[in-house]
Amino acid sequence: MSRFLVTAALPYANGPLHIGHLAGCFIPSDIFVRYLRMKGEDVLFICGSDEHGVPITLKARNENVSPQVVVDRYHELMKKAFAGFGISFDHYSRTTAKIHHETASSFFRELYDKKVFSEETTEQYYDEEARQFLADRYITGTCPRCGFEKAFGDQCENCGSSLSPSELKSPKSTLSGKPPVRKQTKNWFLPLDKYQEKIQDWIGSHKEDWKSNVFGQCMSWLNEGLKPRAMTRDLDWGVPVPVDGADGKVLYVWFDAPIGYISSTKEFFEQGGNKNGSRITHHGSRWEDYWKDDHTRLVHFIGKDNIVFHCIIFPAMLMAHGGYVLPENVPANEFLNLEGDKISTSRKWAVWLHEYLEEFPGREDELRYVLTSVAPETKDSEFTWKDYQARVNNELVAILGNFVNRTMVLTHKYYNGTVPQHGELQKADHDLIHTIRNSKLKIGLLLDQYKFREAQFELMNLARAGNKYLADTEPWKLVKTDGERVQTIMYMALECTAYLAGLTEPFLPHCSKRLHAMLNSESVGWKQMDGRLLKPGHLIGTATLLFEKVEDDIINNQIEKLKNTAMEQSNGSPPGGGDETQGAIKPEVTFDDFSKMDIRVATILEAERVPKTDKLLKLLLDVGSEKRTVVSGIAEFYAPEDIIGRQVSYLANLAPRKIRGTESAGMVLMAEDRDGSLVFVSPERETGNGGTVS
Ligand code: 2FM
Ligand code: ZN
Repeated sequence: MSRFLVTAALPYANGPLHIGHLAGCFIPSDIFVRYLRMKGEDVLFICGSDEHGVPITLKARNENVSPQVVVDRYHELMKKAFAGFGISFDHYSRTTAKIHHETASSFFRELYDKKVFSEETTEQYYDEEARQFLADRYITGTCPRCGFEKAFGDQCENCGSSLSPSELKSPKSTLSGKPPVRKQTKNWFLPLDKYQEKIQDWIGSHKEDWKSNVFGQCMSWLNEGLKPRAMTRDLDWGVPVPVDGADGKVLYVWFDAPIGYISSTKEFFEQGGNKNGSRITHHGSRWEDYWKDDHTRLVHFIGKDNIVFHCIIFPAMLMAHGGYVLPENVPANEFLNLEGDKISTSRKWAVWLHEYLEEFPGREDELRYVLTSVAPETKDSEFTWKDYQARVNNELVAILGNFVNRTMVLTHKYYNGTVPQHGELQKADHDLIHTIRNSKLKIGLLLDQYKFREAQFELMNLARAGNKYLADTEPWKLVKTDGERVQTIMYMALECTAYLAGLTEPFLPHCSKRLHAMLNSESVGWKQMDGRLLKPGHLIGTATLLFEKVEDDIINNQIEKLKNTAMEQSNGSPPGGGDETQGAIKPEVTFDDFSKMDIRVATILEAERVPKTDKLLKLLLDVGSEKRTVVSGIAEFYAPEDIIGRQVSYLANLAPRKIRGTESAGMVLMAEDRDGSLVFVSPERETGNGGTVS
């Protein structure tokens, strides 16, 4: 037996969770720990909310509430969403917890006392009116590379350059709007350069067992040469720096967040240490057993943007401290896209987990299934609602659900729900047994290698094999002539169903429960699945529907909802490749593609705000031959009364759609300025309405 400590990245408590979170980190980690628990391993699954960091303070400022109000709101929302999808943490904590502040603080103090940090005084921007040093995101100015006037202190969102605040021209504080002054401040740096060799050796030893995307990213950081990095910040939200002369300073969020794994473990044991779903007595009874025992196998599940922090910075902190285990593996995933565009919390381009749970009650495993099927394990991947529908209907319903249903119905019909006694086995039966054994073996091997997508595919192959077995042996025909043979067939089909109940547990825990209820069986351990699972004479339960078909209207509603939110967020043009920046030119199209667009001139006859929205105007257009209503996301840029009589261009053959209850027939074309504002694309002089633009 091994002892595993499995962590999933602490999500920021500054917005709701979406499908990207589930696919990238939480479903794979949950599958992994459920599998380990079934194997009887000593496993602890740890997570919590990451409640510090500048984006949280900015959000709080925008809403005019304290950061605590923001993190309380999202901590609860996220916790509920995780529970809804069956993410089976042993403990879910939060970094505003007292125990976390104490743990992070004493970790820092330990390094400080060991003289690990270098103290450096640098000049930072300071807002004299707000009397506060400015984090990079609190400073805007003109980008030295492209001239964009609203670049942030750490990045220009127009040209994508990474910046430091001192590079910005005409910097302004976002707090007071005034130019900041430069003022000296002291911070504590972790000299990562001193750990370069040790980290290189350690990561080098994982060349074979770490995923190539993870190993590759680490190598590129190492090849660039590690540089000292400040572990403190001049901010008032976070863990206060526990040394003299550090008033108004907090620990860097990426210093305290990974320590959150440690404090969450501590809190778990302080609260009694009841492990989720465990079936064995655990040897570890203290937090140190999981963090300081060389035999612990620490595995961090994260998304690719977290690689450097988990593979370099946190390990360097642990090395500097001493006494802690280092991660055995960091199986980071790439990103999941949604309907052709990057998932974005700020642009609201996402499928939110709390909304899914409300709109799809009892269907949590469908999303788990689809997200594992398209998991971004080796490269970025894509979720679309059409694909969701196809996978649920053609795989979960048509293959798994169908096999189970046929087996259940026939067992009740022929034997009143009793598992029949089997006779002598024939080749088809031996083949099915072989397939069952093989599937279990392959699934285990794939899960050991963090290949969740392939493992789930194997699981579905077993259901496919079950279906084929029934189709080949045709018990419904034989029943009239060879009752004894049918007993064997049904016994085999039931046994296969029992295996499916066991093997679905890591992937589709709700489905697994339903299967066990139908079979009237207990959940099984991994080892148990080497022998027979059902005894002849056992009475099974009643058949219930395992999966339900997803109808077109459900999918269409979701697609519509997504488009509408995006319309409200942006300029009224549907998303697709659009980024917050002036992104790269979209992929080439042919002239034929272009000529499908019917762009025409029209005059705005009437304009009014769409009630209860900030961004939408309802426009009545004179399009020459008729009048048309178009809803456009331009209310932030134009007052309705200012645009009456304006000539504009619009896409005339865009499929009509309902936006906030109004049918919009077309789309007014807008040009986006560098600061994100929108202006009409109008003919240079008055032209006839209905004239084509080409
Ligand atoms: O990227 C994120 O969402 C971070 N909040 C992850 C932190 S992981 C850990 F270090 F706490
Ligand atoms: Zn720029």
